[in-house]
This record gives sequence, structure tokens and C-alpha cells, in this order.
Amino acid sequence: MAQINENYFKLQAGYLFPEIGRRVREFQKEHPGADVIKMGIGDVTQPLTPSIIKAFHEGVEEMSKFDTFKGYGPEQGYDFLREAIAKNDYHDRGADIAADEIFVSDGSKCDTGNILEIFGMNNIIAVQDPVYPVYVDTSVMAGRTGDYLGNGYYKGIVYMPCNAENGFIPEIPKSKVDIIFLCYPNNPTGTTASKTELKKWVDYARKNKSIILFDSAYESYISDPEIPHSIYEIEGAREVAIEFRSFSKTAGFTGTRCAYTVIPKNLVATTSDGSEKSLYSLWFRRHTTKFNGVSYPVQKAAAAIFTPEGKKEVRSVINYYMNNAKILRESLTKLGFRVFGGVNAPYVWVNSGRGIKSWDLFDKLLNEANVVGTPGSGFGPSGEGYFRFSSFATQENVMKAMERLGNLKW
Ligand code: MLT
Repeated sequence: MAQINENYFKLQAGYLFPEIGRRVREFQKEHPGADVIKMGIGDVTQPLTPSIIKAFHEGVEEMSKFDTFKGYGPEQGYDFLREAIAKNDYHDRGADIAADEIFVSDGSKCDTGNILEIFGMNNIIAVQDPVYPVYVDTSVMAGRTGDYLGNGYYKGIVYMPCNAENGFIPEIPKSKVDIIFLCYPNNPTGTTASKTELKKWVDYARKNKSIILFDSAYESYISDPEIPHSIYEIEGAREVAIEFRSFSKTAGFTGTRCAYTVIPKNLVATTSDGSEKSLYSLWFRRHTTKFNGVSYPVQKAAAAIFTPEGKKEVRSVINYYMNNAKILRESLTKLGFRVFGGVNAPYVWVNSGRGIKSWDLFDKLLNEANVVGTPGSGFGPSGEGYFRFSSFATQENVMKAMERLGNLKW
């Protein structure tokens, strides 16, 4: 008889966002007339911009003609997109990344979940707490952890608490860890890491021969010129880091799907006999075996983000969301919440300041204000008592939601 992967039974509850969706649907079934405002999952609301749509249409048009039709593309992405990424996202920021070190994909969620496949099973994995749940849940599914410990943690994972006291920057682990997931600008806390802070991690990884998996899906929300957008802006990072980037939040591609992962060619990890092997080659092998590339019109649309017009348009959408973040920050502060993030990131991370647990606050806001956010404890035990608001809603809804929160009885 076929046997099941029992690691899945270690997982607690459903994946966070579908669980929120389930609760909201249940509420709406019971209250069909309720005008529910959703600021839970970080899903964009503004449409793709004109330059992106124009390129998308052109790509579709090319597919309709014999001379320009395209079948399978290169699995790692078309050169035109990889070169635009290398120039604009790396060379222009002084980071040394070549176009052929970039693997275009259909999402950073998939890539951050899949990347562990090229690493051995005995690696010790460290994550920030609170954390984007994909890193932990995919480690559990793959049998890289022990059992659930009953306190929000899985055995075998090193959790690095991020809280108001440490400015949401975790301390370097005291014990040796092999693989470190870092996310900056951070999901869920909306906070950022300076070059000095990231340098400490790069130095740790170089010393311990660890690998940093750096998720910078929200880098386009950074406005402070001192904050690095890429781990490769840090000296030595090419020796120790893989970076994940996405067009989802940068340019509204959550439904269109396009992202990329960078693996420097000199990046190595060791085999059990201690010899060093290229991680680039392994990922290349995996990618070409398990993935057939992002569709041509989507890659063409993504490349338009890097044209002068595309850059201007995308910036104006980002400014729109960041203005929402400002409204959230100011309103919630006035309402007595302790407010973090939302300055160089689209997420506003709050503590109610009233000693309420995250899911209790979720229920209160849903039932009494018809407003949906994400309970902080869903991201890990250190998120208990916190709540995340996404600024990707419309401005009208953000203002309406804040007005409703202002009328709540505590
Ligand atoms: C979030 O809300 O944390 C994100 O939308 C999740 C994701 O990008 O997968």
C-alpha cells in the first residue's frame, strides 16, 4: 500500500491565510450584508500599470503570429528580462550579480519553499520569530524538523525572537546554524535592517560556512537611501547568500506571477565527505528539471517595469500604498496602539496596548468593525499580542477601516 508523508501531520492548523479566509467567509455567511474590509493577506488592489499592460498585450500578440510565436522558453528566463534585472536591481546599486546568476520563476513563495531541496537533511535551520510561515511549514513538510512542541515551535528549528526590545532584528545565534532565513524589509513586522546589521549576518555566515536565504520581496518599498535593498550590497555576501525577489508587491504581479532567485556562481556548500560543491549547479539542475519557465507575455510585461515610463508608473503605485501605510500608522497611533513598520515596508505591525491576544483582536475587529487583519501569533509565538495591517487596500477602505476602529468600545 502507498504510504503517506506523515510529516504533514505535524503541521498545526491550516496555512495562515486560507485559515483567515475561512473565518471571514464563515462570518460573511452569517452576516451577508456586512461590508468587510480586508487588510489581511498582502494582496495588491491597484491594476497593472499602462506600460506593463502594453508590453503584456504585445507579448500576447507575438504569440498569435507564426514568425514571433514562442514555445518553451529558457527555463531560467529570457535574457532580456535577466539582463534588465541584473542592470537595474544590482549593477545600478553597486552589487555584482550577473544576468545568468538570476533564475526567473513564478513566485518567491514557491522558491523559498523549494530551495531547501538542494540542501542536505541534517542542516540546522534558523528563522526569525515572527516569520513568514512558508519557511517553517515547508521545512516541516520535508521532514526537516522534529515534532510540534505545543508552544508554537517545532523541534529542531532555531527560532530567533524579533520584538520591540531588539528592534525586530534577531540576535546572532549562540549555537552554530547552517541555513538562516532572513526577510528584509520584514514580513510581518515591516521593519528593516541596516547595512551594519546585515554585515554581522554575512560575517557570521562566512565564519560558520552557513548559507543565508535572504527574502527581499518588499525591497521596492524602501525609501530611506541608507537601507540596503539587496544582501549583495554587503561585502562578502556573494560567498554566503541566496536572494529571493518578486514582482508581486513591486508591480502588482500577485495574480500574474513573476519573481526571481539569485544564486551566485561561486556559492558553495559541502558534501558529507567535506568537499565543496556549487549550489548554483544544483539549483540549475533542479530548475531545468522541475520548471518550464514563466510565460513569455508575463516576462515581457515584467521587463516593462524597468523602462523609464514603467519605473515612474510603478513608483506612483508604491507611493499610493505607502500613503495608506502612513494613514494606518497615524490613525492607529492616535487610537493608542503601539505601531511599528510601515515606513520602508507596506506592513504595519501593531500591538493593541490593551493586553489582547492576537486572535481575540482578530475576532473583535471582524465582528465589531468588519475589518480583517492578520493575527501576529499566526507568524510565530513572538507575534502574540501583535496584529498586522496590510497597506495594499484602497485608500478609501483604509480610511473607512480606521474610522470604524475609532468607534470601537474597548
Ligand atoms: C503576506 O500577506 O504575508 C503575503 O501576501 C504572503 C505571500 O506573499 O505569499
